[in-house]
Amino acid sequence: MAEFKTVPADAPMADKLMTWVDNRFPATKLYKEHLSEYYAPKNFNFWYFFGSLAMLVLVIQIVTGIFLVMHYKPDANLAFASVEYIMRDVPGGWIIRYMHSTGASAFFIVVYMHMFRGLIYGSYRKPRELVWIFGCAIFLCLMAEAFMGYLLPWGQMSYWGAQVIVNLFAAIPFVGPDLALLIRGDYVVGDATLNRFFSFHVIAVPLVLLGLVAAHIIALHEVGSNNPDGVEIKEKKWPNGTPMDGIPFHPYYTVHDILGVSVFLMIFTAIVFFAPEFGGYFLEYNNFIPADPLKTPAHIAPVWYFTPYYSMLRATTDPMVNVLAGLIGVGAVLAAVKGRFSTFVKAAVVVAAVVAIALLKTFDAKFWGVVVMGGAVIILFFLPWLDHSPVKSIRYRPGWHKYLYGLFVLFFFVLGYLGILPPTDGRTLVAQVGTLFYFGFFLLMPWWSQIGSFKPVPERVTFEAH
Ligand code: HEM
Repeated sequence: MAEFKTVPADAPMADKLMTWVDNRFPATKLYKEHLSEYYAPKNFNFWYFFGSLAMLVLVIQIVTGIFLVMHYKPDANLAFASVEYIMRDVPGGWIIRYMHSTGASAFFIVVYMHMFRGLIYGSYRKPRELVWIFGCAIFLCLMAEAFMGYLLPWGQMSYWGAQVIVNLFAAIPFVGPDLALLIRGDYVVGDATLNRFFSFHVIAVPLVLLGLVAAHIIALHEVGSNNPDGVEIKEKKWPNGTPMDGIPFHPYYTVHDILGVSVFLMIFTAIVFFAPEFGGYFLEYNNFIPADPLKTPAHIAPVWYFTPYYSMLRATTDPMVNVLAGLIGVGAVLAAVKGRFSTFVKAAVVVAAVVAIALLKTFDAKFWGVVVMGGAVIILFFLPWLDHSPVKSIRYRPGWHKYLYGLFVLFFFVLGYLGILPPTDGRTLVAQVGTLFYFGFFLLMPWWSQIGSFKPVPERVTFEAH
């Protein structure tokens, strides 16, 4: 237990009160550790706005969500009408609902930017592996949260989107059909599904999300922030022990983040007021039609933030599975012939490849589509161990790495765009190339990330006062 502090009898009332609190709860200690004495690198740039913005959006979603729940009815017969009631009759209901629906898309935009920052500056590398892993878990929760929230308005897209995605689980060998039944609580998406999704969306997942965000920040503050140079500021300290390239988070970055928040809110409110449907991307037009289990919409597409993964799912056709089997075969032969491994490892690689090819040919392509879709997110967890580059930041990597990252982003956008459109043979082919690129980018990273001429990393961060 910390020592009991005392204050002189004539000390100001505020000091007395704070000392009383500090003797019972570490308020000042927490404030110092996480704000006034948390030293962050002084060279943060544009990309460092998105962590605080993600927190802002989280708060917006929780607060607007609380007010929506006051009027929303989680009942298959009432849900759609209750949302219309919120939009038309509840005072201020429309703005609360539009803030929540725009907030869902804003959350993904902000988090994708935040993750991309981590990718280009190597923020997932030692010692920040857990910061990254907590981040990936947050991303998974966010996807679950958005998926379940989308069922709640009980429109055509809510209904059929859920039907399609839950049916995917049925493709898992052996346990699939039972698992899909467990998720739905019925043989088709129905009232039971709506109730359990509601329960998960409003309480279970947000609780986990909040816990993970706390873990994310605690882990970050334990190791300290990375920065655009990928230089560890803790390695160069003043005699008083503070990092030479660090500045206290408060007031410097609290003020800095106000700029990001202001710009973000201008864009956010402009969308809420003038384009809440955002051309059908943030709120799909088909979702203004009540769910009809007897009428399947001609074209079912998930909301934009899921479409890159949806594209990968659809790209996994029988011919694609054959290509995957071929690639695994070629990879194993290359490892056995050219690899600098022991005979035992080579034999293990060949056996593993034979088993993998046998499995690929045994199960349906639909199941492998689900594996590819899930794998596209799961692979992110392993990034800290896939990147073998001698430097963290893109700034000091070979020039062509930038083009590779650029291509990665381009393919991600192309996959996202294709996921919105109905498939054709040509589109499926492009999506297949994109899927192979996506996985190749990560799986071959241990190899390509070491290649090329790296620039020397400076000892101190590069910073010019403005
Ligand atoms: C609700 C979602 C999230 C919130 C509220 C959040 C919050 C934050 C905050 C406040 C920071 C410090 C400020 C900054 O560096 O921008 C941070 C840093 C970081 N976050 Fe997140 N985050 C979220 C999701 C994610 C996700 C999905 C990932 C990756 C998969 C991630 C990876 C990281 C990394 C690697 C850092 C350290 C960056 C560095 O020091 O360069 N975060 N996060």
